[in-house]
Amino acid sequence: MIHFLNLRKLNQPFEVAFQKKMKQFLDGGWYILGNEVKQFETDFATYCGTKHCIGVGNGLDALVLIFKAYIHLGKLEKGDEVIVPANTYVASILAVLQADLVPVLVEPRLKTFNINPDEIEAKITSKTKAILPVHLYGQLCEMKVINEIAQKHNLLVIEDAAQAHGSQFSEKEKAGNLSNAAAFSFYPGKNLGALGDAGAITTNDDELAEVLFSMRNYGSKVKYENEIIGVNSRLDELQAAFLNIKLKQLDSENEFRRSMAKRYLSEIKNEKIIMPSWDLSQNHVFHLFVIRTSNRLELQNFLKENGIETMIHYPIPPHKQKALSNWNNLSFPITEKIHDEVLSIPLNSGLKASEIQHIITILNQY
Ligand SMILES: Cc1ncc(COP(=O)(O)O)c(C=O)c1O
Repeated sequence: MIHFLNLRKLNQPFEVAFQKKMKQFLDGGWYILGNEVKQFETDFATYCGTKHCIGVGNGLDALVLIFKAYIHLGKLEKGDEVIVPANTYVASILAVLQADLVPVLVEPRLKTFNINPDEIEAKITSKTKAILPVHLYGQLCEMKVINEIAQKHNLLVIEDAAQAHGSQFSEKEKAGNLSNAAAFSFYPGKNLGALGDAGAITTNDDELAEVLFSMRNYGSKVKYENEIIGVNSRLDELQAAFLNIKLKQLDSENEFRRSMAKRYLSEIKNEKIIMPSWDLSQNHVFHLFVIRTSNRLELQNFLKENGIETMIHYPIPPHKQKALSNWNNLSFPITEKIHDEVLSIPLNSGLKASEIQHIITILNQY
């Protein structure tokens, strides 16, 4: 069976370095907010081209903390509206709700799966204060247009870059530095994945960074002195140590994924399958390779019978989730179509050449 994602295989190349680091970690005896976190924050900020990186517990917290810090700074108020894509992982929307803000859903483009900027302005009201573009599956949103709309209406822009580590329009325009602040997740399956939960925020805003460094740590900069109401959501020292090792390989992981995506795009030829749209630039890091088909269950079963595991990202749109029951009667036809048709096929550096070839052959046979 070709597994969708074999984390053990993916982390195998790092095992010796992890063990060496683990020994240093045990010898050092410093477990919370130590040098590994500091190192990661410095290096990830440099990697993204931002002034600051604040390590936090996970990607959801990264988003929630950005919103809460802006509320603390008086730039957002409880009840303000935030434009979010209807087609996203539910975390983007939960973050807005958890900060007592109001998510306003906007349809995606069918072609890119990402928020459609042409639909944003119609949803802006006097209460709208921010836009949260999500770089879904690793592909950057249309940030130039989104930032222009934001500037025109005096809105904050916050990137959900949880799936897009390293995606870039150019050396200087990279996921994490295309907005006021960005949230990253290092959930194990991500292109830069920890060995547990982890997340980070990047920003060029000094004032915001200062609040966030304190807010993630009980609202405290000096131990037992609490300046603001904070939470406990620190990037774990051991996870930071693993991430420091893996960050050095992120560009090559992304390059591998792009080259594999190029092969899929040029070699999979099947009228029943709609391939993802990509301009072959570095604006995509293929966290997921997502195809569409009108008979998804049939294709998924066919692939399974031929030894290929697939996944669905995602089967139920946020507005149809039980947890968001007051939205269940809303209609977002493009989002619903995407959720009905998408299928993610294996793509990561743990795959052997023969496995990649098998996936291509079988998809052409369907
Ligand atoms: C788009 C998106 N936003 C937010 C998150 C939340 O990240 P985490 O699982 O680390 O809390 C994820 C990942 O799971 C995600 O894919």
